[in-house]
Amino acid sequence: MNPFSYKNGEFFAEDVPFSDISRQFGTPTYVYSKQALVNAFQAFSAGLSDVDHLVCFAVKANPTLAILNIFAKLGAGFDIVSGGELARVIAAGGDPSKVVFSGVGKTSTEMRRALEAGIFCFNVESSSELERLNTVAGNTGKKAPISLRINPDVDAKTHPYISTGLKNNKFGVAYEEALSLYKHAASLPNLSIQGIDCHIGSQLTDLSPFMDAMDRILLLVDELESIGINIHHIDAGGGIGIRYSDETPPDFTDYAEAMKKKMAKRNIKLVFEPGRALVGNAGALLTQVEYLKLGEDKNFAIVDAAMNDLMRPALYDAYHDIVAVKRKDKPSKLYEVVGPVCESGDFLGHDRDLSLDEGDLVVILSAGAYGMSMSSNYNTRPKAAEIMVDKNQCHIIRHRESIESLFALEKPIP
Ligand code: LLP
Repeated sequence: MNPFSYKNGEFFAEDVPFSDISRQFGTPTYVYSKQALVNAFQAFSAGLSDVDHLVCFAVKANPTLAILNIFAKLGAGFDIVSGGELARVIAAGGDPSKVVFSGVGKTSTEMRRALEAGIFCFNVESSSELERLNTVAGNTGKKAPISLRINPDVDAKTHPYISTGLKNNKFGVAYEEALSLYKHAASLPNLSIQGIDCHIGSQLTDLSPFMDAMDRILLLVDELESIGINIHHIDAGGGIGIRYSDETPPDFTDYAEAMKKKMAKRNIKLVFEPGRALVGNAGALLTQVEYLKLGEDKNFAIVDAAMNDLMRPALYDAYHDIVAVKRKDKPSKLYEVVGPVCESGDFLGHDRDLSLDEGDLVVILSAGAYGMSMSSNYNTRPKAAEIMVDKNQCHIIRHRESIESLFALEKPIP
């Protein structure tokens, strides 16, 4: 199912024309398809139905409450990286006992809150964090459930900024140190070893790095077992890519089958932390053309969305497809699609073949993951509104920020 498509020359989100959304809510606006979110979660889970598993949506990909709530209702757990994300999960009706807490810099306060909420597991990323968690858990009178996040030193073959499983990354504990660290963890009174974890990177379009990482993790699991440390779950992290242009990311079912095959007869729960794969293609950014600036070398379409709304092109040179809301007969031109922010890096797409007039609407696709969640107020630009489309209904799930709210916490010195 494609949630965004043309019907009679006009671009729709499910059964709602984007032009209606613009009239009702203005631009720039993030638009999500409820059906696409549900379908993605169910497709991801389908191949796992015959094994003990937990799918923890990586909140950082899109933390909007309505989105978390849809996944919570479908039985999802959540992968969080901050106390703020934990609070969001709880506010959205998520079950804390299905939460895994990743991240290299958990503070004592965040640890305490997560212990009090009763999360499923801490994914511990260093020996210092292990000590700290043991102390905080002792002070709180709780035992902290833990996995160690292992850095398997495999190349995820993705953009260097989103590759996390190589030796020189800041993430996880070195493979060679894992055994001794597990032994040490077993000796700490306020920790309870539950699992083992890895996450090697994001936007992976090939299964082989996942399989290489799994091989290395399973070796450790067996070694741990031989010294009496039993692992109850393997957290394989997230990272499955989506199609932005012509990528062919792994099919969810193939991924699940390959993982299950690797597990062989081991009776160990499988945990996953997908983010992008569940939301990326369920969201789009609707924006309006303010000006067309035609030049000798380049034509610019200056739209009302910018790098502060969708940072991925500026930060990673990422490609997002851009389509016009109304198909036109007039000849197209190649445009640099850019925003109003005062940076040359503020572009949304290069050399896009579009047929445009000023005032037209365009849609930037595959923007559901790391779009709104990475947006900022740079240039004192209010963050976009967010809309959830459900068949022919539109629900506002986050109001557009007001300009006043952007400086409401500020004051001049006396
Ligand atoms: N688990 C952990 C520990 C992570 O660090 C991440 C993403 C995920 C799960 C989810 O990964 P996913 O399934 O979404 O690939 N801002 C970048 C992506 C950064 C990913 C950070 N970690 C982008 O826009 O491409």
